[in-house]
Amino acid sequence: MQKPSVLSGIQPTGPLHIGNYLGALKNFVNLQNSEEYRTLFFIADLHSLTENFDSKNKPTQVLDIAASFLAAGLDPKLSTLFIQSQVPPHSELAWILSTITPMGELSRMTQYKDKADRMDNNVGLFTYPTLMAADIILYDATFVPTGDDQDQHLELTRTLVRKFNAKFGQTFVEPKNLHTELPRVMSLTNPEKKMSKSEPAGCVFIDDSQEVMTKKIMSAVTDSGSEVVSREDKPGISNLLRITSTLTEKPVAELEALFKGKNYGEFKKYVAQVTNDYFAPIRERKAKLMKTSEKVLKIFTDGSAQANKIAQKKMSDVKSKVGLV
Ligand code: ADP
Ligand code: TRP
Repeated sequence: MQKPSVLSGIQPTGPLHIGNYLGALKNFVNLQNSEEYRTLFFIADLHSLTENFDSKNKPTQVLDIAASFLAAGLDPKLSTLFIQSQVPPHSELAWILSTITPMGELSRMTQYKDKADRMDNNVGLFTYPTLMAADIILYDATFVPTGDDQDQHLELTRTLVRKFNAKFGQTFVEPKNLHTELPRVMSLTNPEKKMSKSEPAGCVFIDDSQEVMTKKIMSAVTDSGSEVVSREDKPGISNLLRITSTLTEKPVAELEALFKGKNYGEFKKYVAQVTNDYFAPIRERKAKLMKTSEKVLKIFTDGSAQANKIAQKKMSDVKSKVGLV
């Protein structure tokens, strides 16, 4: 029997921050290594065209995500690693799904509303969730590991699966989201908002140098008072405690006890040290991989050939169900 499938993608829109890592990529690696699933991870380059971009930078952005995947521990022997635009069935299925997607559902998407306010409001930004649904259901993915900002897109995917199956017969599997213990890392400069590439000042990037990481963490916005405790009225300290707890695998209560009677400065120094220690090996591996770009891209192009086989099979079933000859 085939193992259940796990699939996720990340857009090549810039270097990954620790929110991307702790909310998504780290989980990709754990799921892969558990060997309980068929795992597929891809670079969502078609999705990334919906954001303002310079075509000269796109190949480097793709390479950056490819190298980050490998540096974090994704392994082409255990997972299918591929590039979305190299697998045409994604766009083909997205079109078919768009014909059963209610406009009203897409208009409600918070990511769309947020991005439409910030950047060129193009049709691709609006239909983005239909392409994301196609990515997932082409491979019968049962689980989709992402941060919690993607939950609404997953919900729409399930709606489309039910609608398609009811209209054309059982074809697709309903996917579920999978969160890490940290599905929403908050911004260092504004701990009420999620850490996001669109606000780089609040991000710690996984390949920031030790100096830059330390500087950013030492100047993270903290709350009034001086106690190192996780509490609703202390979003800044709570965020740092959660990040540190995940990186050190020490419960938050243990960290609170460790810093009882100490000040924010001492705590932040520790956070900076722990974060540096954790990300230094990934950063080094990634830097080496970036120098062997052809090899890295070949891994993903080979993966795209495997993905195409699975996706094309599904697409021919879809076409015949819909009545396309
Ligand atoms: P960004 O919002 O920074 O542009 P992406 O949309 O490229 O990030 O997200 C890539 C993956 O990382 C997705 O699975 C997303 O849910 C996850 N993710 C993004 N930001 C965070 C965050 N602050 N905390 C946890 N997970 C996040
Ligand atoms: N929308 C996701 C993000 O912004 C990226 C993505 C595209 C994705 N297709 C996907 C994630 C399929 C999971 C599954 O981060």
